[in-house]
Amino acid sequence: MIAAVVSTKITNSQETLIIQRPKSGICLKGNISIPGDKSISHRALMLGAIAQGQTNIQGLLLGEDPRSTARCFSLLGANISQLNTELVEVNGVGVGNLTEPSRVLDCGNSGTTMRLMLGILASHPEHFFTVTGDSSLVQRPMSRVIQPLTQMGSQIWGRKGNNLAPLAIQGQKLRPIHYHSPIASAQVKSCILFAGLMTEGKTTVTEPALSRDHSERMLKAFGAEIQVDPETNSVTVTGPAKLKGQDVVVPGDISSAAFWLVAAAIVPGSELVIENVGVNPTRTGILEVMEMMEADIIQENQRVVAGEPVADLRVRYSRLKACEISGSIIPRLIDEIPILAVAAMFAEGTTVIRDAAELRVKESDRLAVMATQLQKLGARVTELPDGLEITGGISITGTDVESDGDHRIAMSLAIAALNADGITNIHQAEAASISYPNFAKTLQQICT
Ligand code: S3P
Repeated sequence: MIAAVVSTKITNSQETLIIQRPKSGICLKGNISIPGDKSISHRALMLGAIAQGQTNIQGLLLGEDPRSTARCFSLLGANISQLNTELVEVNGVGVGNLTEPSRVLDCGNSGTTMRLMLGILASHPEHFFTVTGDSSLVQRPMSRVIQPLTQMGSQIWGRKGNNLAPLAIQGQKLRPIHYHSPIASAQVKSCILFAGLMTEGKTTVTEPALSRDHSERMLKAFGAEIQVDPETNSVTVTGPAKLKGQDVVVPGDISSAAFWLVAAAIVPGSELVIENVGVNPTRTGILEVMEMMEADIIQENQRVVAGEPVADLRVRYSRLKACEISGSIIPRLIDEIPILAVAAMFAEGTTVIRDAAELRVKESDRLAVMATQLQKLGARVTELPDGLEITGGISITGTDVESDGDHRIAMSLAIAALNADGITNIHQAEAASISYPNFAKTLQQICT
């Protein structure tokens, strides 16, 4: 009997994903549909919850993170139907009308839930809220949103000088500010814009480089007055805003497509078509980098669905070349750096990733964890203060590796393992369900 290339083992509710590459090699073939975009799923649930009337969401991501958002906003008074991909109905309460729950709002592993929700909660006068998260989230910095919210007049308390959750929020009537964010972060930008919805006057955020613009697009669609100045990377919301429930169609998540883009590009003989991928220009840094690396990726069937550009992506194996990834492209591929590090392992030359210190405060310290785990496989990787240096073309061997509970690390290691000799055991692989519940099943289907 030939052992399966991909299998899983569950011990004490922890999953190990086992990749066993046969001597004859493998190749990846087929059409893949990927789960809904995580960023858009959060925003559709949140704006639906605070809009007047009904929001219908098609294609919602059923991962653990959007479930955290749905759970929090149900506790805050919105009526959210059972989550499924066909149709989720959200009956909103209207801007400013959330109710004060008697329980703690648990954001699980989701930084987007906590940071975006804080803007909404802080602007609810006479309401008191408490929020927390899992062991990873309570270590992630919240001062990046608490500081500007405090400038707007909010009252928030937390551990370590009001930086870490659990947090307590006493909602206030806020004042508008023009915030010059020191980091290009869509979570910071969205938090302040959401606080601005309830705040009389113009609230503006200027960021040093453009981050994903899903909030701006969706706020406009829900009827908010939004002005964007692309010259200065500034967005202004005029409050108080009235939002009206909408129909939202969530495209596939390019951050999930990224695993298949790299997989097919590095495994000889592969060809995959990834259907219905969101290709919003603030998210397509990965496509630009892979083009620099001479990957063979074609965008087919380009269209616009509910205000977001969408395409099918055809990717074939090719010999990749090293490149440098730094500067203003970083926010446009921030979540794809772990999988791009894997692409670099199989590219000719040395790839340098810089200006990516933000990766140290994601679900794990992604620079440290990726460097350590890829080194275990035999890759030549050096950790830099703000990035990674990876020399490609070194053959790697399967062994035991750890996701550190980080979904994107678990999936990146699985893709690297496709080119490793022998057996790779990826521990804590259940983390993938944060953003990609059927990842292992899809991998099984396309391996031939
Ligand atoms: C997100 C923004 C990014 C990204 C995260 C989702 C969002 O974080 O890493 O996975 O939905 O706004 P930052 O904005 O903090 O870079």
